[in-house]
Amino acid sequence: MANQDKGPRRLTFEIFRYNPEDPHSSPHMDRFELDEEPFMTLYTALNRIRELQDPSLQFDFTCREAICGSCGMLVNGRPALACQTLTHRLPGIVTLYPLPVFKLIGDLSVDTGTWFRDMAERAEAWVHSRTDFDPAAEEMRMDADLAQAIYEGDRCIECGCCIAGCGVANIDPEFLGAAGLNRVARFAIDPRDERSADDWYEVVAGEGGVFGCLGLVACEDICPKDLPLLEVNAYLRRRLLASRFNKADHH
Ligand code: SF4
Ligand code: FES
Repeated sequence: MANQDKGPRRLTFEIFRYNPEDPHSSPHMDRFELDEEPFMTLYTALNRIRELQDPSLQFDFTCREAICGSCGMLVNGRPALACQTLTHRLPGIVTLYPLPVFKLIGDLSVDTGTWFRDMAERAEAWVHSRTDFDPAAEEMRMDADLAQAIYEGDRCIECGCCIAGCGVANIDPEFLGAAGLNRVARFAIDPRDERSADDWYEVVAGEGGVFGCLGLVACEDICPKDLPLLEVNAYLRRRLLASRFNKADHH
């Protein structure tokens, strides 16, 4: 922020380079310099570098508006969306690495899709209903606050920043992580999902579930969509514990 008043800067970018598909490639850093422009984002900067200095530089962007979730990367060590990161908020030397945890495609580009598909399968992230679909039936009415809470969960753009910034997800590939638990909670509060307390227990209390979280709290701080990830985690813990106590009461 303070940099805005000091006139145009010459920015230095230290960028991780590696193409796992190329047997001649080995991991290293490349240095690029660029004149900062007003309201420049990392999206603009990386495109300038690719257009003017190195057409082989790999990185992902689609929407440029924090919607598609494809531009997550480590910006000076912190997971962030490049399209949402203004260079004037950064120091003059910017170090960029691909997000850890996910499979590297090349340079700053990673495959978040496989991780998220695997997570969705393990969390069974779809409405489970035993009721036969009746196309003539009226839509289920839902309280506005509940609909809003479900919508909150659906705002996740699957950028992977919370996973990359999570100490547990970095060492345990089974951990659902904040994005996974958020996905579970989105269905757990949906009254159309008819899963029983035991079904939920299987999904959330098993290996990789909510009790795997060590409470390092980086996720909520990092999430570019400001999702209430700690609240989600606490909700799932409360719900699981309540279902266990209810069960114990009935025995
Ligand atoms: Fe990205 Fe936030 Fe979704 Fe995590 S919860 S994947 S940080 S949008
Ligand atoms: Fe879509 Fe950044 S380009 S989120």
